[in-house]
Amino acid sequence: MKILKINGGRKLNGTVKIGGAKNSAVAILPASILCDEEVNILNVPNISDIDALKSILKHLNADVKTISENSLNINLKNIENKEITEEMSKKLRASYYFMGALLGKYKKAVVSFPGGCIIGSRPIDLHLKGFESLGAKVEYKDNIITITAKELIGNNIYLDVASVGATINIMFAAVKAKGVTIIDNAAKEPEIVNVAMFLNSMGAKITGAGTCTIKIKGVDYLKSCTHEVIPDRIEAATYIMIGSVLSDNLIVENIISEHIEALTQKLLEMGVDLKIDEDKVYVTNKNKLKATKIRTVVYPGFPTDMQQIMSTLMTQAEGKSEIEETIFENRFQNLYELQKMGAKVNVIGNKGYIIGPTRLSSANVNATDLRAGAGLVFAALIAEGETTINNTDYILRGYENLIEKLRKLGAKIQLIQI
Ligand code: UD1
Repeated sequence: MKILKINGGRKLNGTVKIGGAKNSAVAILPASILCDEEVNILNVPNISDIDALKSILKHLNADVKTISENSLNINLKNIENKEITEEMSKKLRASYYFMGALLGKYKKAVVSFPGGCIIGSRPIDLHLKGFESLGAKVEYKDNIITITAKELIGNNIYLDVASVGATINIMFAAVKAKGVTIIDNAAKEPEIVNVAMFLNSMGAKITGAGTCTIKIKGVDYLKSCTHEVIPDRIEAATYIMIGSVLSDNLIVENIISEHIEALTQKLLEMGVDLKIDEDKVYVTNKNKLKATKIRTVVYPGFPTDMQQIMSTLMTQAEGKSEIEETIFENRFQNLYELQKMGAKVNVIGNKGYIIGPTRLSSANVNATDLRAGAGLVFAALIAEGETTINNTDYILRGYENLIEKLRKLGAKIQLIQI
């Protein structure tokens, strides 16, 4: 296990460059197997979820080469359809994308149930119902899902919930199906648009990505392309919130400001001093912060993935803040860890309350999931003294070069293998 030790209370200033979006890259790598030639993928974040996906691609006999620090070349000419075992699947949630991609390419996928952060029950029924609507048969044995189809035929699919994973997975299965598939009540997250653009660059015919109706006209062949992963809006949000408390002058660059508007509007409301350009944000801690309310909803609403980081910011705001979590049922575990650092918190049902401002103190805390961990890193950077964060692997799954980036801004942070 790796732990983080952070000595907080220091000012963090300078420039931080945001990496490629985890949730986009973790779909694009599995999508590459739909290609009949080779692809170049740029701006791939250096995170452990990507390492896990590269191993799965290599297991399928894809030739994966690093062409520069954040660029991959993946040659698919010799790939084979093999089972994605439990050992591979459990490493990350996004292993579920191999279901749609293998089904789309070979009309057969054998994949173990996905792993990922334990933030709720996280069913995949909508993914499987979508595959069935295209003509596939889904069978379960032990923890293994076998999905087969004689042929995949386009259909109209309505998602009961606008699920990011189901929207992308159904696109993968439909991209080489016969005829036209329409996904209604599709999720609209920017990562979905980025993935659809990747598929279209290979020759797919997808329209409407980013709206609630996506239309996919099946094609037979997908050719080579070069595609760039969009900047990670959750990583950007994390540094902007850190800067809101700890910086006299922080520049968060390589962002798409439109993608983080739900956050920046909230921060302005709270009194944070922000200057927002199209591709960068300047953050200064000048004013007293005011308590606020957020409600997590699908894009373009306030993202559930920013909620746990926001709760740390709320400990520094004057008054009673409220978070309503509507996407996942188990996403307040971080509040109990924050309590160990002195935060005044309360959880009632799907609402979390935080009373601030509080002087946070160092403690020994656990990262219960990826974004909970990021919220604790933020709290540890604020707190006086040395905080230890356990279960750091969760955090490293999603934050590129976290230690290096924070050190460059002036943080005292060490990663220790124990
Ligand atoms: C993705 C993101 C995750 C983010 C989440 C919501 C990836 C790898 N992960 O997760 O970071 O927090 O979107 O923005 O991109 N649901 C069902 N049945 C299904 C699928 C989902 O009921 O078959 C429900 C879920 O329980 C949840 C809601 O739909 O309540 C949204 O989940 P979904 O958008 O699918 O999240 P993930 O794809 O797991």
